[in-house]
Amino acid sequence: MSPSILAISYFAHLIATVVWIGGLVTLTLFVWPETRRVLADNPALFGLLTRIRKRFAPLTNFSLVVLVLTGFVQMSGDANYEGALTFNNEWSRVMLAKHIAIFGMVICGLILQYAVVPALERASLLRERGKGDAAEWERLRRREVRLTWLNVALGIAVLGFTAWATAL
Ligand code: HEM
Repeated sequence: MSPSILAISYFAHLIATVVWIGGLVTLTLFVWPETRRVLADNPALFGLLTRIRKRFAPLTNFSLVVLVLTGFVQMSGDANYEGALTFNNEWSRVMLAKHIAIFGMVICGLILQYAVVPALERASLLRERGKGDAAEWERLRRREVRLTWLNVALGIAVLGFTAWATAL
């Protein structure tokens, strides 16, 4: 594979990594805690969290598509790669572990985007208007935070397996 195609692929792969994994870490370590601290009893909290969510979700979905497409380019261009579902060497076994962690991230993302977030945004709209069930909002919010932290842990595992594969 030509070095320029691989370079472009790695560039896109790294940008998508920064957007997705970097975004998850920024959200969980900085944005959410400070937003909660500053807007604790302010109804604007619900609207702000919804706006951040609506902007981040499409970026994560797009990053996943870029990572999968460039990942296949990089895999097929790697000397260690022996073909689909062939795990005869350590590199391909580490890549398999990386894919299992990525699969976990996709499942978390699907549960968040199709099960938790729609209910949370309905509850947020009601809370913003001073209606709705505060306990129900808290319950959904806790699920969102837990699933996102799980995604951070899986993302770090993906980077760990990648570092291991790159060293081989
Ligand atoms: C959450 C998703 C992913 C993240 C965060 C991620 C992250 C990374 C990073 C940071 C690198 C190092 C690039 C470098 O050395 O400059 C890399 C390399 C690589 N990634 Fe991914 N990646 C992801 C998904 C994928 C997928 C889905 C595939 C395959 C379909 C893949 C295949 C590869 C390959 C083959 C390499 C080169 C490894 C080597 O140098 O031995 N990645 N990835």
